Amino acid sequence: MMPALSAEEETHSRAVAALIRERIAEAGGWIPFERFMDLALYAPGLGYYSAGSVKLGPAGDFVTAPEVSDLFSRCVARQCAQVLAGGGEILEVGAGTGRMAAVILESLAALGALPAQYAILEVSADLADRQRQRLGKLPREIRERVVWRERLPERPIEGVILANEVLDALPCRRFTLHGGEARELGVAEESVPAADERAPRRGTGFIEREAGADAGGAADVADEELASATAALLRELPAPLPEGYTSEICLRVAPWMAGLAACLSRGLMLMIDYGLPRAHYYHPQRMAGTLRCHFKQRVHDDPYINIGVQDITAWVDFTRVAEAAVSCGLEVSGFCTQAAFLLGSGIEQFLAESTDTVEHARLAGEARRLLLPGEMGEAFKVMALARDFDAALDGFAVQDLRQSL
Ligand SMILES: C[S@@+](CC[C@H](N)C(=O)[O-])C[C@H]1O[C@@H](n2cnc3c(N)ncnc32)[C@H](O)[C@@H]1O
Repeated sequence: MMPALSAEEETHSRAVAALIRERIAEAGGWIPFERFMDLALYAPGLGYYSAGSVKLGPAGDFVTAPEVSDLFSRCVARQCAQVLAGGGEILEVGAGTGRMAAVILESLAALGALPAQYAILEVSADLADRQRQRLGKLPREIRERVVWRERLPERPIEGVILANEVLDALPCRRFTLHGGEARELGVAEESVPAADERAPRRGTGFIEREAGADAGGAADVADEELASATAALLRELPAPLPEGYTSEICLRVAPWMAGLAACLSRGLMLMIDYGLPRAHYYHPQRMAGTLRCHFKQRVHDDPYINIGVQDITAWVDFTRVAEAAVSCGLEVSGFCTQAAFLLGSGIEQFLAESTDTVEHARLAGEARRLLLPGEMGEAFKVMALARDFDAALDGFAVQDLRQSL
């Protein structure tokens, strides 16, 4: 059962839906799914990440690895320390509650490897406030190194760029295959009739519809960027995809990566997210794509309910991330499962260090959640992208999945 919306959430969701309805009308009756996702998540003052819901943590919509256990962030810190040995800075994109930043900074302080600066790039004003509160509790010598940025720094850094569960929030295109060609999926108002519309969505007022399927012909058949990207995708996949196959493709990865890559003069980017290499992502049996919504700890696949008060995500095609990085002059220096990364980064040692029985049992439970294949261990991957940094990376010593990309 999906939890009910509070009165406040209901009002907020109606306002976001009204804005989207306006944009659909302005566009002639249809907008691409990517635009819908952009508005639902990022519309100024209204979108899920722009407005003030709790989002992360047990009282919010979902729990990320740094919220499951500080063991995760201690492992990330160890990998950062290897890069920061000669000094440098950290830039974290999308820092959530700030818990990972706090633990990384404490761990690096203990290792004598504090970065000169820890910058946070955050789109959510409300999460930035939570980060300020959390990091404001750190000792002065540490907290003074933290700064917040509203846009990417103009001066490139030497050091580490981190993004945990950010790539999956980039708005993506959705498409469905007909006769070997991709048709873009988008959103129309439910009241506009169309011959091939999908099942109505429980009265939310929106319906998923293919480009060009509306009676007025306002929506074009897939635009050129999507058409060439999906044609390239279909050419290179090892197995043909069946008729009606529906999936996502995130064309924002390349510009996003280009922006970040320009910020790194030397060092490492660590991208952590749930995702797959391309051949597995677009597997013929994954007929309905990878879109997932998170609302009050429930995971479901309907982006047209709870609009503006639930997270909308899609799995990450890590081959696309690697291609984008390489085209910016970065090298893919590691790719493995989260479990392998944590084992390579000393999670067992951190666990063994806790001698208190009660604490040890708690940490062991948390470690299982991070490591087990049925939990976060395998679905989540870690990718290291390097510039002018060729030391063997501890976190990737256990497993090398780069051949799968
Ligand atoms: C799923 S949360 C992950 C938070 C945190 N990294 C963690 O693991 O707990 C996504 C985070 O990325 C931020 N975010 C989403 N889109 C972003 C973007 N385009 N640029 C920067 N931050 C973004 C959100 O506000 C949020 O802090």
